[in-house]
Amino acid sequence: MTQPNPPGDALTNPQQQALLAAARSAQLKAYAPYSQYQVGAAVLDEQGRIHAGCNVENAAYPEGLCAEAAALSAMVLAGSTRALAVLVVGNGGKNKSAWTTPCGGCRQKLREFGAPTMPILAANDAELGPRYTLAQLLPESFGPDHLGTA
Ligand code: THU
Repeated sequence: MTQPNPPGDALTNPQQQALLAAARSAQLKAYAPYSQYQVGAAVLDEQGRIHAGCNVENAAYPEGLCAEAAALSAMVLAGSTRALAVLVVGNGGKNKSAWTTPCGGCRQKLREFGAPTMPILAANDAELGPRYTLAQLLPESFGPDHLGTA
């Protein structure tokens, strides 16, 4: 079930649906032979473009890449360093109804390009789930502003 956007939200329903579609199609390409936990992520940039990524695992386990990191790389490659919204879809592993929220490292990676108010939406293989802001997932965070570069 699709949840309505909160009042005053800059993310439109068509954008939300486009993010979901892009993340789901990226998830289908995930390379996750070790965990069987396929993840897709989609990022909306300030030009209204959507960039997607999937997780890519490695036989040397720590060398795997998260879907969010891949999506951010695609965004930067396309010439943007501003993320307005993110959607992550994961299959939930053994708990199919679980929501996949960005791991700690990915929260910090998202912090580089997103405002504290940036919406981060979670979905599983069945439906769109809870929605957070970046500040909720990464409170009191450290970012480019601390280095005087923002
Ligand atoms: N994973 C992601 O791609 N994004 C997340 O937000 C959580 C976890 C991946 C990493 C690994 O390939 C698999 O999911 C299981 O941890």
